Amino acid sequence: MSHAFIVHGPKDVDSLLKVHEALRQAGIATWYEPPGADTRESQASTAEAIDKSFAMIVLVSASSIRSREAQAQIERGIARGMTIIPFRIDNARLSGTFKKQLAENLRLAMMDDGGLEKLVAEVRGRYRRKCPVLSVMNLKGGVGKTTIAAQVFGAWQAALGGRVLLIDLDPQYNLTQTFFDMEAADQSAAKDKSVISLFEKSRLHAVDAPSPAERWNHLSADPFPTPAAEDIVHPLLGGDGPGGVLDLISGQFEISKYAFATDSAALSAIDTNFQRTIDHLRSSYDLIVFDTNPNATFLTRCALEASDRVIAPMHPDMYSLRGVKLLNQVLNEHIRPDNRPELSVLFNKVSRNEQSTFEADARNGAHDQRAGFDLAGALLQTALPRSGHLDVRSPEPDQAPWKSLVIHNGRGGGLKKIRESLTSAASEIRERLQAA
Ligand SMILES: Nc1ncnc2c1ncn2[C@@H]1O[C@H](COP(=O)(O)OP(=O)(O)OP(=O)(O)O)[C@@H](O)[C@H]1O
Ligand SMILES: [Mg+2]
Repeated sequence: MSHAFIVHGPKDVDSLLKVHEALRQAGIATWYEPPGADTRESQASTAEAIDKSFAMIVLVSASSIRSREAQAQIERGIARGMTIIPFRIDNARLSGTFKKQLAENLRLAMMDDGGLEKLVAEVRGRYRRKCPVLSVMNLKGGVGKTTIAAQVFGAWQAALGGRVLLIDLDPQYNLTQTFFDMEAADQSAAKDKSVISLFEKSRLHAVDAPSPAERWNHLSADPFPTPAAEDIVHPLLGGDGPGGVLDLISGQFEISKYAFATDSAALSAIDTNFQRTIDHLRSSYDLIVFDTNPNATFLTRCALEASDRVIAPMHPDMYSLRGVKLLNQVLNEHIRPDNRPELSVLFNKVSRNEQSTFEADARNGAHDQRAGFDLAGALLQTALPRSGHLDVRSPEPDQAPWKSLVIHNGRGGGLKKIRESLTSAASEIRERLQAA
């Protein structure tokens, strides 16, 4: 679990607790040295807590400016290249480390209008950037969403590293079946070790809870503790295969029950559960990727609300363009502007030999008007070619999941080029995320 580390002075207890509580309510865990603790005894755990945090909040006050412990903690954070967010809680004059390192960055103060809310927004932004969430989505079916979720992000993990989590949000659960045979997938779902446990209280959270998958006409709005990542995910790497972290939360048909539900209060509670659980999972990963269904449903909204960016695969043809256009409309009409993910478009199944007129026109902006947005600007430079390597068959029973990844396994001509395309798509997506 990753947290925000709070640096404070011995007399800052009231402000410390206010900041802690405001962040807790926003779903962000904090760590701070308990006021009055014997600092020599707790030095080792403090150092570890700094190293594991995603950001350091410094309460800037007369008390913290004079504190040696506070100075040492800030210096450790700076030495590790951490994000430091100073937060003024009184008007004390800066000196020492505070003056040298923090003076230029003093934008936020408790005394300002909405000061605490601004701090929470800043910390939340940092938290989200630490682990972006992507939806692979197009409202047209069969354009390569599942293939891209598996292969581009499998290549991301292999080439760019980091801990990557794939989540199968499509009730067809093809992404899960890319890695596991149907029986293994269904066995996991039978224990609720599957995507439904991100939405409703299930046997994964409490052994005596009924399974939401067996109750088609019932929605449970009960809150539940967010599951530990290791209890719900399936590792796709490791064992005798390549190392690194690429995990999957497997899918199931039963989440299509939400499309038939009419109880809007319960649906809203279930959406909130999902957002909270995804936010929590951000602390264990560096990237989360949803594979999604091809029509606009409750699941589409949940995915978009949780996402920082949408990757829309598209064939170079008018039908796919229409799917992307509808997707952009859904984004604009149903997602609040301050929470709206950015859209990137990735051509898939292009001819290997020559660029089609459609693709060239799209890159020149000739389809922007038809798309209803700046399609040329949203297009990634990389285009994935039509290739037998990307037409992955279902695995044999007991086949190691990593063998379904083209970046690690495959045979025959053209493999090197395909791997280069997958890696280059991943790098471009990362660049866009970093530039945002
Ligand atoms: N670049 C490619 N070259 C060859 N075959 C491909 C390529 N991309 C996808 N395919 C194949 O096209 C089919 C559809 O792809 P995929 O299942 O990824 O689409 P999808 O958008 O997820 O579909 P759905 O809307 O049903 O979820 C699959 O058989 C897949 O193996
Ligand atoms: Mg699919």
